Amino acid sequence: RTTALLGAPIETGASQRGCIMGPDSLRTAGLFETLERLGWQVSDLGDLTIAPQTPMAHANGALHHLAETCAWIEVLEKAAYQAARDHDLPIFMGGDHSMAAGTVPGVARHAAEQNRPLFVLWLDSHPDLHTPESTESGNLHGTPMAYFTGQPGCDAYPPLAHAVDPENICLMGIRSVDAAEAQKIDDLGIDVNDMRTIDEVGILAPLRAFLERVRAANGMLHVSFDVDFLDPEIAPAVGTTVPGGMTFREAHLIMETLCDSGLVTSLELVELNPFLDEFGRTAKLLRDLTASLFGRRVLDRQTKSY
Ligand code: ARG
Ligand code: MN
Ligand code: MN
Ligand code: MN
Repeated sequence: RTTALLGAPIETGASQRGCIMGPDSLRTAGLFETLERLGWQVSDLGDLTIAPQTPMAHANGALHHLAETCAWIEVLEKAAYQAARDHDLPIFMGGDHSMAAGTVPGVARHAAEQNRPLFVLWLDSHPDLHTPESTESGNLHGTPMAYFTGQPGCDAYPPLAHAVDPENICLMGIRSVDAAEAQKIDDLGIDVNDMRTIDEVGILAPLRAFLERVRAANGMLHVSFDVDFLDPEIAPAVGTTVPGGMTFREAHLIMETLCDSGLVTSLELVELNPFLDEFGRTAKLLRDLTASLFGRRVLDRQTKSY
């Protein structure tokens, strides 16, 4: 099976700089070699770039880097579409989460051509459901989900050809939601597993239920992995840490379960800010979590009966 690493060194959507170094940090951590050792045929497609932009005006004066974000959306849509078409399970290495406004529509185009619905598993402490109109921080990494589900208020972004059905999205790890986003979650009826839910029922039951829906629909599955999904204690290299996150064991269990399902058709690793890392430990953790999704087993377990 084939995978490809595609770098999206984009940091204009985040409040602080540093995500531009994300793709190289993942390469330095040995992501390529790790996947090869697991038996995958790996290509490194290098990093995407955009041309210098002239600022774009918007009624919301708080917005940062609207023109750059629009340019990235166009470049990423094309590149993600091609990578999804050419590989079994491409990895988009971010870059801040605004990149999902390009990658998700790109893989959605590929899914539409296959006549298969696209599902999205969103592993994040944030729903990123603002629009350029509703965001108060003006940081556009808070907006990709509103855009790729085709919500009104995103006219400043390029026209969207293939929207994702909100019913095909599962949010996990959510623990920081703004008022405008909470309203949209209710309106759209998105499947949200916040940390309260996970503490009560665990991670496996809701994940398996979602995966069964993907399988029943013969869907393609994009996994969007925001570093702040993880607990800051194990993953310090992100600008928007939120306490009370996913543990090492929960995160590996999710990735192994995704691997067992065989359903994942694209992965993105976003919001890694190596400037905030401690001797590369967050990059190495992302490498190892990715390895679990690509078939590594911490233990080669045998079935036991107790
Ligand atoms: N909701 C906050 C905002 O809009 C935080 C967004 C954080 N998003 C992220 N991809 N880390 O500013
Ligand atoms: Mn494909
Ligand atoms: Mn996010
Ligand atoms: Mn987040």
